[in-house]
Amino acid sequence: MVTFDAPLADKTYLRIGGAADILYTPADTEALEDAIVRARETECPVRVLGAGANLLVADDGVDGLVISLDGPTWRELRTNSTSGRVTASAGVDLPKLILRVVGEGLAGIEGLAGIPGTLGGAVRMNAGGRFGEIGDRVTSITMIDATGQQRRFTTEQVGFRYRGTSLPDGVITTIELQLEPADPTVLRDRVKDVMAYKKRSQPIGEHSAGCAFKNPMVGGERISAGRLIDEASLKGARQGGATISEHHANFVVTHPGCTASDITGLLRVVWDRVREVHGIVLEMELVMWERGK
Ligand code: EPU
Repeated sequence: MVTFDAPLADKTYLRIGGAADILYTPADTEALEDAIVRARETECPVRVLGAGANLLVADDGVDGLVISLDGPTWRELRTNSTSGRVTASAGVDLPKLILRVVGEGLAGIEGLAGIPGTLGGAVRMNAGGRFGEIGDRVTSITMIDATGQQRRFTTEQVGFRYRGTSLPDGVITTIELQLEPADPTVLRDRVKDVMAYKKRSQPIGEHSAGCAFKNPMVGGERISAGRLIDEASLKGARQGGATISEHHANFVVTHPGCTASDITGLLRVVWDRVREVHGIVLEMELVMWERGK
């Protein structure tokens, strides 16, 4: 299905930002391949929308083609509780997948509990935190590259790194994971522990898109961007409808009337201040979509 001038705000966790010039939900892989080939021929930029959990869309929206892997074709899921093999389409919801495999007694991704997003989005940015990363369990991914060709990558070829991969541009369609049989009760307890940690340390229940900045590498180790922002006395800093969370300083929480430029303005202040106070240049973890970029 194609929609022109399609509002994206409701498709993101932040619930702000403008429209996509073209929003396309392909019915199947062939339709996706055709769309990518046509976009390339017309030099039309292509962006992929997952669950919008880590995404900030500019107030005036985005140009080009936004591909949304919504619908049953993109939510196929096969699990094998004996072998631990899981094959999932990219649009599968990560929290639902975790619930399902935990219930079936498959271990390996329960540490990602509380991380929102689609599996495809999680793989693209190697989502994770102190309790593990999705890349630890991925054995292969299949994608349609920017030329419209289907390609398969093994774990080594995906090149998982901190909050990223070395995959080429394109759209991830299928992911294979290798999990391990385990006691569901133990796994459920683990999920509870992870969620309890997050409830204590993150502004769960408020509007945000998770951590705004990546944890920088300092002296050979990753240190918490949240701690650096906190130490720069930025908790509670506000611009328009956007505030730095009092709970965890790497989260921007939004209030009614907040705009995308309130958030980018506030992040700019944080970035400048952390550089001044700590001499550290932060990198964005939040994905920003803007016209012409
Ligand atoms: N800290 C502060 N002040 C703050 C925030 C944190 O002093 O405002 C301190 C904490 O007290 C703790 C340390 O910094 O000693 C680390 O904090 P935390 O455990 O919250 O983890 P983090 O390094 O800030 C977070 C997320 C990641 C996210 C990365 C950035 C966890 C539990 N949380 O880590 O994961 O990706 O920053 O890449 O790993 C998520 O869990 O939802 C998540 C996305």
